[in-house]
Parts: sequence; structure tokens; C-alpha cells
Amino acid sequence: MDDLIRDLPKAELHLHIEGSLEPELLFSIAARNKIDIPYASVEELRQAYRFSNLQEFLDIYYQGMNVLQTEEDYFDLTAAYLARCAADNVRHVEIFFDPQGHTEREVSFDTVIKGIIAGLEDGEKRHGITWCLIMSFLRHLSEEDGFATLKQAEPWLDRLTGVGLDSSETGHPPAKFAKLFAACREKGLKLCMHAGEEGPPEYVHQAIFDIAVDRIDHGNRAMEDPELIAAIVEKGLTLTVCPLSNTALKVIDGIESSPVAEMLGAGISATINSDDPAYFGGYIGANYQAVADGLKLDRAAMKQLAINSFAGSFLSEDAKADHIKAINDLP
Ligand code: ADE
Ligand code: ZN
Repeated sequence: MDDLIRDLPKAELHLHIEGSLEPELLFSIAARNKIDIPYASVEELRQAYRFSNLQEFLDIYYQGMNVLQTEEDYFDLTAAYLARCAADNVRHVEIFFDPQGHTEREVSFDTVIKGIIAGLEDGEKRHGITWCLIMSFLRHLSEEDGFATLKQAEPWLDRLTGVGLDSSETGHPPAKFAKLFAACREKGLKLCMHAGEEGPPEYVHQAIFDIAVDRIDHGNRAMEDPELIAAIVEKGLTLTVCPLSNTALKVIDGIESSPVAEMLGAGISATINSDDPAYFGGYIGANYQAVADGLKLDRAAMKQLAINSFAGSFLSEDAKADHIKAINDLP
């Protein structure tokens, strides 16, 4: 099984590039930018990565990204992530970035996006990994702030495939951003939203029926409502599940409680992703391994998860078919 997990071509559909900032790189970028960080060593920083909920993680995640300031920083961050992807045989990535986490610190939108795109293009050349970029809005901020960010993105719209919604879920339902997401749809952008990670099934309902999302990030709590499950299956929506993230943030009691097996059993197109791998203890291969072991999934289920990752991507139908054939051709 370990060999199959390594050999499976995979797409990663739920990854926050800022969440791939490893402590070693964080320290070296901080030194380069002459920024003091409140931890004495890489080990001490890693020790701080113990969370009892989403908000505790987010506080450390926003603190961590403060070291990122120059185009080179964003390039190095993205290049390091793609090198990890290559080692796990990831063939396609659809990554989020959080512009508001940078622009609110006076780092310009252009600096951030130029560095990330240069890193993605470098990764495509070096490793043959194709990519889509998804601009994510911070839901703890106002819809007006989101509109200001969309304005900054205007010159870059041809480089963006979609938009997302992340950060503190509870108290910030999808409906808060209905006008913003409608405007993004008008501009031809795909719509993704984190929903049902910590927030109630009602938030997943809003994402599907009020926003008409193209993809749901996490979606765990949809499993509490049979009507939602039926709607997700009927609409063929993909859920980007993040098993090690769910474990680290206590969204589930342990990997054995991951909803992935139940989702597959219900006919939902579930996928496996790493979310913020520098903080949650593993990249995509480790997430596949965790569900294979924790849920005792067989080879057919592991292949199905990899197939779902391409089927649920924003790739062309031809590219999807090529990747899926390569999976089906594996023994
Ligand atoms: N931002 C980065 N990771 C996130 C997560 N798992 N949930 C919500 N917002 C996030
Ligand atoms: Zn996420």
C-alpha cells in the first residue's frame, strides 16, 4: 500500500500556501528581513504547534506569515511547497493564498501574487506540476474589505482560476459574502468556500444553495444532515477533506473518526488534502497514508480518492481524463 500511495498521481485541491511555511524557512526568511520572532529556535516554534481549535491555529498562522515581505519570500515559499509535492507524485495543485493577510501589513498585492506565480511557474518547469491559483477572502473581515481586495486583483484576473473563503468560520456564514461571490462569478471565477469545518451544517447548506459553490472545502459537518448528503451527491460536488488538519484542530476525535470512508460510502466525491502541512504534521502523501491506516481503506478506495482529486479539479476534461487513465492503469 505504501508503494501505491507514493505512485498514485494526485492533485492537491486544498492547500493554503502560507500554511506550507516550515519553521526552518520561517526562521531563515525572518533573518533575511531582520524581523524578530518570539521563539528562540525552530524546536521551540514547533512546540507551539499544539491547537485545541481552529482559532488557536489561526492566531499562530497569521503570526507566522508576518515574516513574508518580498517577492523572493513568496517565491521561496511556493518553490519549497512544490518540491514537497514532487516527492509525493502530486501532478496538479490548486492553491489558496490569503492576500488580506499580507496587504493589511502593507505588503502590496502585486508583491505577493508575483512571487507566488513565479514560484508556481518554476515548479511547473522543474517538476511538471500544473497549477491553478485561488484567491481566498478572510471571512472574519467585512464583505466590503473583500470587495477592496477583488479590486486589487483586477489586473491579475486572467491568472486566477477562482476564489475561496477561509479563516474563522463560526459566526461568519457564507451568506455574509453573497454579493461578493456573485461579483466573482460575474468575472468568470470559480467559487470555493470552507464550510462545515467547525461551522454547522447550515453553513454548508448556504454555500450550496445561496452561493452555488463549485467546490466545498472540508464539508465534514454535512454528514450530520442526510438531505445535505443527498444534495452533494446529486450535484456531484467535490469535498476537499483534510484528515491531518481535522485531527490537529480537534475537528474530529482522531483519524479513525475521519468522515472520508463514510463520504465515499455515500457516493460523495471526497478528496484528500493537506490544508496547512507545515502546521499539521504532513504533506499530501502523509494524509493519504493516515486515512489508509486509520480507516483501513483498500487499494480501490485509495485509487478512488486520487481519481476524485482530478475529477474535482478545475483542469480541462482532456487533462482530467489523462490523469485518471494513469491511475486506472496502475496495478
Ligand atoms: N486558513 C488556513 N487554514 C485554514 C483552515 N483549516 N480553516 C480556515 N481557515 C484557514
Ligand atoms: Zn483550509
